[in-house]
Amino acid sequence: MASVIENAIRGTVTKGIGVVAEFNRKRMPEQDHPFLTGIHRPMDSEITLEDLSVTGTIPPELDGRYLRIGPNPAKPEAKGYHWFTGDGMVHGIALREGKALWYRNRWIRSKTVEAQTGMKHAPGPRHGGFDTVNTNVLGIAGRTWALVEAGSYPVELSETLDEQTYNPFDDTLAGSFTAHPHLDPKTGEHHAICYEAMDPDAVRHVVLSPDGKVTRELSIKVKHGPSIHDCAITDRYALILDLPVTFLDEVADRRPQLSLSLEPRAPGAGRPAAACRPGGRHRLGRLPANLHLPRRQCVRHARRQGGDGCVRL
Ligand SMILES: [Fe+2]
Repeated sequence: MASVIENAIRGTVTKGIGVVAEFNRKRMPEQDHPFLTGIHRPMDSEITLEDLSVTGTIPPELDGRYLRIGPNPAKPEAKGYHWFTGDGMVHGIALREGKALWYRNRWIRSKTVEAQTGMKHAPGPRHGGFDTVNTNVLGIAGRTWALVEAGSYPVELSETLDEQTYNPFDDTLAGSFTAHPHLDPKTGEHHAICYEAMDPDAVRHVVLSPDGKVTRELSIKVKHGPSIHDCAITDRYALILDLPVTFLDEVADRRPQLSLSLEPRAPGAGRPAAACRPGGRHRLGRLPANLHLPRRQCVRHARRQGGDGCVRL
């Protein structure tokens, strides 16, 4: 675990890197960005359409909203843009009895969006140094949540997407969340592996009860800031996939020999966010899904399992 001094140094260095990166962004040449053009061109306004005309037939069984979310920068700037960090925009279409009742698109009201558009930021607590939420939108406990990983708290959305609130699951979540929680259909719980962008030494196993409250938030020691943004669950276990894809700053400091990128190498796409760490180990951890154990006993590796410890992924 990093010491207080290490964390202080890391925080200072990170701020310095941010200043240098911002300076370098301004020096980059003007060019089109593949994630700001064509089908990725951001929408430049919020619209509401009602009683949409329908081509063909909408099956009447489809009753509810179809929602999606993604990066949609309010003020697109090609220099140094990375689609992981673009302002979030949620889109929705409501269907009922074969009709398309409405379409809406709404920016997630971060403080950055407020600065760029003048639209007031959403209420609620912030966490992790940024409040851009742009990666997933889903229902938990009958409520609608926009999600991101690495820092910000989730954003709760109203039925029409117009009301938004940063909400750490009714103040039961202490740290960051993930964009990829998994529902256990037997228990109604959600399991998630979460990380903080500024803490490369730990991830956390978070469990939500069927009514959407955090019941477990367990720290797990890791090294080198692995890019763990997902997990898997079985009948009995939550599986932690500690693989050697590491956030780039860690890799670049050691050996800039990148063999895997999380971003297509399209011209002008910017540097990748993460890469495979040469010589890195693959580790698989498993946690009992429904037991509360002391922290020191929680991470076990697949290679230590007995004859009946078969886990298939
Ligand atoms: Fe992710």
